Amino acid sequence: MITKDVDLIADSLKNGEIVGMPTETVYGLAASIYNETAIEHIFAKKNRPLTNPLIVHVSSMEDARQLVQEFPSKAELLASHFWPGPLTLILPKSNLVNDVVTANNKSVAIRVPNHKTTLNLLGKLKFPLAAPSANPYNRISPTSAEHVESYFPDINILDGGECQAGLESTILSFEENEVVLLRHGAIPIESIEDLIGSRVLNRTSGGAKVNAPGMNKKHYAPLCELILTYEPLFMLSAVKNKKIGILWFKKVQIDSPQVFVNKVLAPGGSFEEASKNMYAYLHDLEKQDLDLIIVERLPDHGLGKTLNDRLIRASYK
Ligand code: TXA
Ligand code: MG
Repeated sequence: MITKDVDLIADSLKNGEIVGMPTETVYGLAASIYNETAIEHIFAKKNRPLTNPLIVHVSSMEDARQLVQEFPSKAELLASHFWPGPLTLILPKSNLVNDVVTANNKSVAIRVPNHKTTLNLLGKLKFPLAAPSANPYNRISPTSAEHVESYFPDINILDGGECQAGLESTILSFEENEVVLLRHGAIPIESIEDLIGSRVLNRTSGGAKVNAPGMNKKHYAPLCELILTYEPLFMLSAVKNKKIGILWFKKVQIDSPQVFVNKVLAPGGSFEEASKNMYAYLHDLEKQDLDLIIVERLPDHGLGKTLNDRLIRASYK
């Protein structure tokens, strides 16, 4: 059920249920970090491996401090600048954080979401909320309460409207004096480097460990094939007898009878607009029973990098 009743959702959470909750990035599937059964329920509901840890959502820096052993000075700087906002920090966890939440890691992922309704909800609770994105494992992330309902019709979902950022948070960890990027996200890496005055180490393409963020090669994917290319027209000329949808960046470059549906991510031309629309448009296209979605690749800087990262994973076979 979709509701705007924050008290009802707070009661559901106090009763140990899992709920859909809005954030400025994407909707989350939330439960109390102190309720182990509910946390296990989140993993089961998403079909998510128990080795893939969850992000903890708190309403303030003070609440975050309870959950960690220390805030390195660069983490402190980043949090005070970007929170509330789409920045997740990986820090050494305190004893308050259950191992199920962190998948037995000694660190915890934390952020303060920048969404009025969510902050209102957190203010009514005596516990932080663990919440992964509210999509089944590997499927397209949800940016509206309706998207969540289509995946999980049997839970209570707090309606906070369409997500304003539309892309998941940027994830950073800290190693000695270095800041490490683990997942591209709604805060472009350039903004982070400007603030800290140095480069960050980029570990977004992964390594041996599967449980690190955003490292799954296949992720965020629609059910049909997706191709990401700088040259949608060229790609189109190579495909025959398929029901095709094209997702353009700024404008439609061809209106061919071969194309069943055209959509434009950012008619105004900004990356922010494209980010807000991307998952929503992929959801729309997924519903149209297409054989193939062709997506115009974005320029590879700022949020264009995050968008390309998600689309590369969505296109992985
Ligand atoms: O914007 C967001 O971050 C959204 C909203 C709901 O807050 N949440 C989200 O959660 O994207 P999820 O579960 O879809 O992605 C979280 C990522 C995972 O890839 C996980 O591996 C990583 O964060 N992560 C969580 N805890 C971690 C930890 N202790 N160490 C390393 N990575 C961690
Ligand atoms: Mg996710």
